[in-house]
Amino acid sequence: MPKAPACVAYGVGRPIVLVHGFPFHSGMWSGQIAPLRALGKVILVDLLGFGANALGGATPMKLTMDEQADAVAAALDHLKVREPATFVGFSMGGYVGWSFLRRHRQRVDSLVMCNTRALADTPEAARARLDMADIVEGRSHAFVIDTLLPKLVAPRTLDSRPDVCAQITDLIEEAPLAAIAAAQRGMAERPDSTQLAGELGMPTLAIVGEHDVISKRDELEALTARMRDATLAVIPDAGHMTVFENVEATNRALCDFIGELR
Ligand code: MLT
Repeated sequence: MPKAPACVAYGVGRPIVLVHGFPFHSGMWSGQIAPLRALGKVILVDLLGFGANALGGATPMKLTMDEQADAVAAALDHLKVREPATFVGFSMGGYVGWSFLRRHRQRVDSLVMCNTRALADTPEAARARLDMADIVEGRSHAFVIDTLLPKLVAPRTLDSRPDVCAQITDLIEEAPLAAIAAAQRGMAERPDSTQLAGELGMPTLAIVGEHDVISKRDELEALTARMRDATLAVIPDAGHMTVFENVEATNRALCDFIGELR
């Protein structure tokens, strides 16, 4: 399997691990580093295939959530982080988080699930991912952006906030097409984590954008209702990309939750 992920740490204190979404890299957290480092050691991880962890010609056909979870554990080993962390996973990073909990439970003491899901894909959704994976390498990033952007942001963001859209499309353009394909194949086969979530009993914050069509508000309401010690923050004026579309409200929710833990 490929090398351990690239990672970087800012500040000191109890670890806060930030795991990015698809098809981004750890640069998506640039708006969160300053507020969070006041609360602990902020650790950014690039998942296998993305950012500083791009694998070039060695990119496998598929990158599973379990492989990514083990790569996050290897990053923590690399940084000599032994104490339990707050795991913050954004969307695909949240899927990695469920795998991380299955495989490295003792390394997590609290959870932030940003714009993510516990449910597995429906057969139709999994099929759509596999179809995209099969064609994406013959296409350009414009194809990926045209396919994803309208689902990633709220309609108002798409229509009237070109600055926010540009931040997101710049990140997408940095994702290797082979990694996009591999991650889609990995996400398509992730298991349902609803039962795991219900059994956890650790302080959890779920975050959802008011207009998120990928991780929907009612789905996260149902999930947090069945979890012990979980709350949901609904971020106004945002779709899936809360960390860009309403950075202030997202950071407030993150800091309020993490600040209370310490
Ligand atoms: C993400 O933001 O990581 C993706 O929307 C996850 C997904 O495709 O389910």
